[in-house]
Amino acid sequence: MRVLITGANGQLGYELQRTVPQGIELLCADREKLDITSQDSVNSYFDTHKPEAVINAAAYTAVDKAETDTEAAFAVNANGAAFLAEACSKHDISMIQVSTDFVFDGTQSTPYKVDDTTNPVSIYGESKLEGENRVLEILKSKAVVIRTAWVYSSHGNNFVKSMLRLMQEKNQLGIVSDQMGSPTSANTLAVCCWQALNKLQTSNCQLPSIFHWTNAGVASWYDFAVAIQEEALSLGVLKKSIPLKPILTSAYPTPAKRPAYSVLDKQFTYDALKLPAQHWRAALKETMRELS
Ligand SMILES: NC(=O)c1ccc[n+]([C@@H]2O[C@H](COP(=O)([O-])OP(=O)(O)OC[C@H]3O[C@@H](n4cnc5c(N)ncnc54)[C@H](OP(=O)(O)O)[C@@H]3O)[C@@H](O)[C@H]2O)c1
Repeated sequence: MRVLITGANGQLGYELQRTVPQGIELLCADREKLDITSQDSVNSYFDTHKPEAVINAAAYTAVDKAETDTEAAFAVNANGAAFLAEACSKHDISMIQVSTDFVFDGTQSTPYKVDDTTNPVSIYGESKLEGENRVLEILKSKAVVIRTAWVYSSHGNNFVKSMLRLMQEKNQLGIVSDQMGSPTSANTLAVCCWQALNKLQTSNCQLPSIFHWTNAGVASWYDFAVAIQEEALSLGVLKKSIPLKPILTSAYPTPAKRPAYSVLDKQFTYDALKLPAQHWRAALKETMRELS
């Protein structure tokens, strides 16, 4: 089967290439090869390369910038996703759309289930929710949405790599301790995408339309930073430790509001996709080994 990966140079795109199952021929398209905001480019790419399934790893992920760059965020996350879905519909093929915990407002105190009420509190979250809705409306049971959160990898820009840089540059750091979520290695997210695609192809479209995937367990950004420092010190990625201070969101204002609690309920994903839970700390250790 020929599978198109859009946004192939992003964190997820890169890990999808590293985890590709046997029997899959990859069509890897970074933004230069395929800009998903151009419907003409999408259609002509499909006509030329004839993918047999699509994993959409392309996204506008600059959460704060999206607050003022609204049009660009919607162009990629909503229109671009819809253009891909329309092309998939025309060619009668399936699509995996990746989405985010930011579709929720974070006011719950128990893990979000797939059918809990969405209520994004940022432009990024709104644009991703519109992407979800449009893809599912166009492709119905031939699409699956996988919502994830707090993604990092050894490739690309992310919280882990920013922390490692700052821990080398600064004498101390204040890290937000009142936002809770689940750090997620892009590698495990990629495995989840491949498994969902496999099920989508083999279950004759009897799958539910939305799945949640993150690594298991819960952390604040502060907990995550403490773990990053500990793992990095034990593997020699960092030579010295610096004091890390928990701070409140109010002390670190950002243009985009973040959900205070965005833990996703994965129970159904574990069962339906036969995927084992991996604790975020174990997944972090694996990525840190790569970085060392
Ligand atoms: N990162 C997170 O913490 C996080 C959390 C929740 C959900 N997610 C979701 O997970 C998925 C994967 O995210 P990620 O972390 O892999 O993001 P990423 O590293 O930012 O990768 C996104 C990729 O999309 C590409 N892209 C942007 N605009 C494009 C366009 N118009 N056409 C084609 N490609 C385009 C980017 O290319 P350029 O580099 O050239 O811009 C980049 O390579 C996304 O759907 C994201 O919304 C991520």
